[in-house]
Amino acid sequence: MDSKIIIAAFLSSVPVLLLLGATEAHVEYGAYNITCPNAEAIVFQEMTQILATSPDQAGSLLRLHYVDCFVRGCEASILLNSTAGNTAEKDADMNKDVRGYDVIDRIKAKLEQACPGIVSCADIIALAARDSIRLSNGPNIPIGTGRRDGNGSSAADVPLNLPSANSSITQLISFFAKYNLTAKDLVVLSGAHTIGKAHCYSFSDRLYNYNESGNSDPRLDASYKTLLSQECSPNDMTSLVPLDTNNATAFDLGYYAGLTRMKGLLTSDVALLDDATTNSYVMRQANSTSPNEFFADFGTSFMILGKIGALTHSKGEIRRQCSAVNPPSPSPSPSPSPSPPPKNSAEKINAFSSFFSVGVVLSYLLLQYY
Ligand code: HEM
Ligand SMILES: *[C@@H]1O[C@H](CO)[C@@H](O)[C@H](O)[C@H]1NC(C)=O
Ligand SMILES: *[C@@H]1O[C@H](CO)[C@@H](O)[C@H](O)[C@H]1NC(C)=O
Ligand SMILES: *[C@@H]1O[C@H](CO)[C@@H](O)[C@H](O)[C@H]1NC(C)=O
Ligand SMILES: *[C@@H]1O[C@H](CO)[C@@H](O)[C@H](O)[C@H]1NC(C)=O
Ligand SMILES: *[C@@H]1O[C@H](CO)[C@@H](O)[C@H](O)[C@H]1NC(C)=O
Ligand SMILES: *[C@@H]1O[C@H](CO)[C@@H](O)[C@H](O)[C@H]1NC(C)=O
Ligand SMILES: *[C@@H]1O[C@H](CO)[C@@H](O)[C@H](O)[C@H]1NC(C)=O
Ligand SMILES: *[C@@H]1O[C@H](CO)[C@@H](O)[C@H](O)[C@H]1NC(C)=O
Repeated sequence: MDSKIIIAAFLSSVPVLLLLGATEAHVEYGAYNITCPNAEAIVFQEMTQILATSPDQAGSLLRLHYVDCFVRGCEASILLNSTAGNTAEKDADMNKDVRGYDVIDRIKAKLEQACPGIVSCADIIALAARDSIRLSNGPNIPIGTGRRDGNGSSAADVPLNLPSANSSITQLISFFAKYNLTAKDLVVLSGAHTIGKAHCYSFSDRLYNYNESGNSDPRLDASYKTLLSQECSPNDMTSLVPLDTNNATAFDLGYYAGLTRMKGLLTSDVALLDDATTNSYVMRQANSTSPNEFFADFGTSFMILGKIGALTHSKGEIRRQCSAVNPPSPSPSPSPSPSPPPKNSAEKINAFSSFFSVGVVLSYLLLQYY
């Protein structure tokens, strides 16, 4: 066999591999640069207005992104309503207190006005979470976009994927490891609890019946316990308490400082003291005079979180309403559609293999001159 054919095949495969690489699923900076150039500005403007009147929404929107990404990936399954015969994630026991759906709907309405059918609900959640951090005096994290929306949501997936508030450090580490998130990512992302609130029932076992003992958690500062007991009677189902006793509207190091003083609110927060890696991170941040290291770490881990299971390119859809999947498209009509449908990946690969064959022939002809 002519060795030039082999070299020609090799040479022409280079551009093919590069093109295939370019079609790999990814979340990229400025995915709406052309199709909806003001998308990120519109989200930021809405979030600024919303948080000016309802500052509590910052925590709620940040949590929404986490609970979305951990169950089926960052594809807005958390926003889907239950339907006849299907209980959705938002109606799972563990998610009954997830808030912020109205904020997403309001932002979606603005974006549909500006660029109908372009911006996904999954990206709106991610951008609203990003802006909540920035507007709480935290870092301004440059996240990618281009996530598309999924078509399913099941309450049964939730307890399998979200750690509960009473998790031990071993359980937390293994839940995070499922998404390739390390113990460092865990202690860094738990720093999100520097903003927002929790219901009494999320931690009242620590006040009244810790670990089924009938007593309170020994790792609860006495004055903090008194304060929490005043806020939360044993069966209180409605009151909300700040997760960070220091300042629950500022994205700062107060959460870590609280943990070292036995003023962590959830069992899962206090558990960060039980592992060498997470403990030393908590201690270092608690004593730090600058939030810079935490901010940089949070940005890194937040970007990894925001890529979990993202649907891009030909996968998923852009929901018209965030709380329901799009109705099935009408059955193919005999009249030709006005514009050609976007190519699916199989078509792209076919196009690349034709390109590849032409490349082999051309490169072979060129090599004849050497
Ligand atoms: C490490 C495992 C985690 C557990 C067990 C956990 C659990 C919880 C619980 C039980 C609440 C209170 C819900 C309520 O009572 O209303 C809460 C609130 C919150 N969580 Fe987490 N969480 C975890 C990780 C995260 C992560 C990774 C983020 C974001 C990056 C996050 C962001 C928040 C925020 C901002 C709130 C406040 C919500 C609000 O104010 O509405 N959490 N979390
Ligand atoms: C969008 O524009 C920004 C800023 O110019 C650039 O960094 C980014 O790569 C662009 N993204 C795309 C997908 O064109
Ligand atoms: C839902 O999405 C999955 C994964 O993208 C796909 O395989 C499936 O065909 C979709 N189902 C419907 C009804 O669109
Ligand atoms: C986690 O990393 C491993 C090894 O790098 C890889 O094989 C696996 O696909 C990754 N899993 C996820 C969910 O990203
Ligand atoms: C909870 O109680 C069980 C049984 O008494 C004990 O083995 C376990 O160590 C306790 N866990 C914690 C975190 O106190
Ligand atoms: C932890 O929480 C789960 C779910 O809320 C509950 O079923 C379990 O009994 C709790 N475990 C402990 C030790 O409190
Ligand atoms: C909490 O932080 C916010 C935002 O940084 C700030 O405006 C507010 O004054 C702080 N509150 C207290 C009590 O320090
Ligand atoms: C903070 O630093 C001081 C002085 O170096 C040290 O004594 C203290 O134990 C540190 N605190 C924590 C929580 O690491
Ligand atoms: C989803 O549920 C909410 C709250 O019940 C409701 O306001 C909204 O209209 C529902 N969405 C759809 C598409 O039916």
